[in-house]
Amino acid sequence: MGLLIKNGNIITSQNEYIADILVEGEKIIAIAKDIDPEGHEVVDVTDKYVFPGGVDEHVHYNSFNSLGYETSHAALVGGTTTVGDFVVQPAGVGLRDSIINYKKEFLDGIATPDYVLHGIIMDPSEESVTDLVNMPSVGVSSVKLFMAYKGMPYYVSDEWIFKALCKGKEAGVTIMVHAENADIIDVLTKKLIAEGKTEPKYFGDSRPVLSEAEATSRAIYMARIADAPLFVVHVTNREAAEAIRAAYNDGLSVYGETCTHYMMLNDENLAKPNFEGAKYVCNPPLRPQSDVDFMWEAINKGWLTSVGSDHCAIMGGFTEGKVKGKNDFSKIPPGSPGVQERLYMLWTYGVETGRITRQKFVEVCCTTPAKVCGIYPQKGDIMIGSDADIVVFDPNYRGVISNKDSLSGSDYCTYEGYKQKGIAEKVFLRGKLVAENGKFVGELGKGKQVMSKPYAYCYEKFKEQR
Ligand code: URP
Ligand code: ZN
Ligand code: ZN
Repeated sequence: MGLLIKNGNIITSQNEYIADILVEGEKIIAIAKDIDPEGHEVVDVTDKYVFPGGVDEHVHYNSFNSLGYETSHAALVGGTTTVGDFVVQPAGVGLRDSIINYKKEFLDGIATPDYVLHGIIMDPSEESVTDLVNMPSVGVSSVKLFMAYKGMPYYVSDEWIFKALCKGKEAGVTIMVHAENADIIDVLTKKLIAEGKTEPKYFGDSRPVLSEAEATSRAIYMARIADAPLFVVHVTNREAAEAIRAAYNDGLSVYGETCTHYMMLNDENLAKPNFEGAKYVCNPPLRPQSDVDFMWEAINKGWLTSVGSDHCAIMGGFTEGKVKGKNDFSKIPPGSPGVQERLYMLWTYGVETGRITRQKFVEVCCTTPAKVCGIYPQKGDIMIGSDADIVVFDPNYRGVISNKDSLSGSDYCTYEGYKQKGIAEKVFLRGKLVAENGKFVGELGKGKQVMSKPYAYCYEKFKEQR
């Protein structure tokens, strides 16, 4: 007996059509009109949209002072069935071993959505770089390096970014960068704090648009010299996005994502009174509205490929976590929760306002992230043979985002008070019902690692060379 999802209006990144979906075990085995219901469990979804489970390629658990996977069911309630998490490399631990250890300690039996892992080179050495070629053997084909965070263990110099670009391409591993100029930020931060400008509203001034654009261009030059693909995470502004677009148009394999908050919030949030601005401190910072508008354009025109949440629910939330920076904005732990709201924000403020089409919504929230992560078509599409990760979406629901409905484990919600049009009425993960109308109804800790295949999306233009 299978699960028959009947009469749904199926949305993919390319198309929209009414059909039935037959699921057998964990997979979609048929998509057709009028599949015989005999012997199947039937879920009639007439007048509902049906789209692939969201793939959030950019989340943080257990790093950057964030909460762990015990809060990861928040993703499923928001229609995201796969998360892409960044794995910290502790000092002295091999890059590949960092994945094996992380999985044992933090994921097995704890993660609830499925997950794909990105490595992070944090202990740069010839061994770490050489280890890049071993990453696909543990299901990892993307590795992030941080150009920002001077004085913190995350930071690596250009030497290692360039070496990683050169080595990564030997094994089809995508190099991702956090592009902000660490030295400029360090100088500006110290200056602002010395001047007594310690409140969150000065945070943006410490990390200007051009410090991001400069690092983005530098990373692009390094990729160009290395003749390697590059993926720039969390792009926030016009200058950086235009550098990516220009490089791509020049024939380079340079791609970038933005994140929900750079499309929904602006720098005025940092100036909220009573230290409330700290809730919105994240790296890179929120930008002026003109950049926010540009992010929508960049997504619409395909200049940026996807939208992650950069979910990072700080331990202790606002009252005990963010407060650490009460007297010094540079000590505010960066990051905010957002995995549960990503699809709702993009639907409500994108699809419902006519800023993006339903196809674009699926493209940037589900399909392209799966491709970037090397897990397509297992994830990110409604196709025969794909995992039965399916969202049944009621577009008529009307609500307001509130932390009381959040499972993120934080004491605040980044999108508190924002409208929510539509709801994930049913969410299936590999054929099992896990969430219904904002409530988690599955079993905790049943998430599986999705093995990422090398030579993923960012290697498209390298196909002929292989
Ligand atoms: O501030 C943020 N986004 N925290 C997560 C770390 C990062 O750089 O992605
Ligand atoms: Zn980052
Ligand atoms: Zn991040």
